[in-house]
Amino acid sequence: MKSIPVTIPYFDGKEAENVKKVLDSGWVAQGPVVAQFEEAVCAHEKIGHGVATTSCTTALHLAMAAEGLAAGMDVIVPAFTFVATANAAVETGAVPVFADICQETFNIDTKHVRKIIEKDYTFDGGKLYNNETKNVLWGIVPVHEFGLCCDIGEINRIAEEYHLKVIEDAACALGAKIGGTHQGGFGNTSCISFHPRKSITTGEGGMVLTNDAALAKRMKELRTHGSTVSADARHAGKGFLLPEFPEAGYNYRMTDIQAAVGMAQIEKLDQIVGEKRRRAAIYDKLIGQTLPEFRVPYVPEGYFHTYQSYVCMLDLEKLHLDSVELGGQFRNRLLSALEEAGVATRQGTHAVHMLGYYRDRFGYSPKDFPNAYACDHLSVTLPLYIQMSDDDQAYVVEKIRETIDKL
Ligand SMILES: Cc1ncc(COP(=O)(O)O)c(C=O)c1O
Repeated sequence: MKSIPVTIPYFDGKEAENVKKVLDSGWVAQGPVVAQFEEAVCAHEKIGHGVATTSCTTALHLAMAAEGLAAGMDVIVPAFTFVATANAAVETGAVPVFADICQETFNIDTKHVRKIIEKDYTFDGGKLYNNETKNVLWGIVPVHEFGLCCDIGEINRIAEEYHLKVIEDAACALGAKIGGTHQGGFGNTSCISFHPRKSITTGEGGMVLTNDAALAKRMKELRTHGSTVSADARHAGKGFLLPEFPEAGYNYRMTDIQAAVGMAQIEKLDQIVGEKRRRAAIYDKLIGQTLPEFRVPYVPEGYFHTYQSYVCMLDLEKLHLDSVELGGQFRNRLLSALEEAGVATRQGTHAVHMLGYYRDRFGYSPKDFPNAYACDHLSVTLPLYIQMSDDDQAYVVEKIRETIDKL
């Protein structure tokens, strides 16, 4: 029996070599290698400034805080995303307001965003006020889910119309594009993740990308406790006195050890994404031939999907199931049987409004965001990584076929 994980990072020895150099240097906290890594990521994504952090969650919180999100404000986030998108907003004291998603792309439904604004807010003096709580709507944090950009053009139009800020949660989308424009290049701040489930990894890690030099400078200060001088710059200048701390900040610093891994990884990004795209096309074909119960990932014209994850949807009609709940039970039995057969799979991500904290705090029910709820129950992430073979992919699809026939 084969044993196929859902993903594995791709290392080739260069990572260990780079890490050894950092260890030998004696400077293992944040230093010159982080700056090099920021530059390398920016060069790849064609962005002016990068601020490396300990994770995408801290990148999101840092960017939100630096762009003024705070208590007394609302922020629109998609209801189908990893919980960190909403948690980062909660960390600022703001209220996350969920918008539903499109089942085809798994990304935020811009029509629903407009509906929420028109129904629940009043535009007065250049600001949107929540009709019930009087909170100001600060902005929107759309997600480029699984490596496919959302309809950022329409999000930006809404933001311009109502004077809203936009921060793109691009945790999964390093390298993703629309036309020739990379994520992060659509005029907004974006945040990426280097968790091992992402295309490239630093163990844990993240980065904020922006073309705004003043914002990048402020985020670098907030990242280091609100200090005006970075630790390595202070030591390079023989600084025995602590610097000034004009603001209360955080310690969100990536280390040079992590960045050394990142420097080796970013060189492989195009190779990794290229190979994942090739393998995604193989899945599309195999699934199209043998699994009518599965809907393969949809990619709109002109969008460059990086397939951080290859996420399919179960088709209720083809399975002769008449509710999302029954579909969810079927999906879970399928995933469990695949695990027994040595094939690791996962649900795509979760409907955040149905997770304990959000459900209890806001009293949500499944039908509040039906598409997010359906994707939570019916999505299936298949194994995808560049060390996979054609045989591995055929095995995955064959085991799914066999299991569905048995269930
Ligand atoms: C959409 C999204 N946002 C944020 C995060 C958080 O990233 P990290 O694990 O780097 O904090 C993830 C991680 O999976 C994610 O998928």
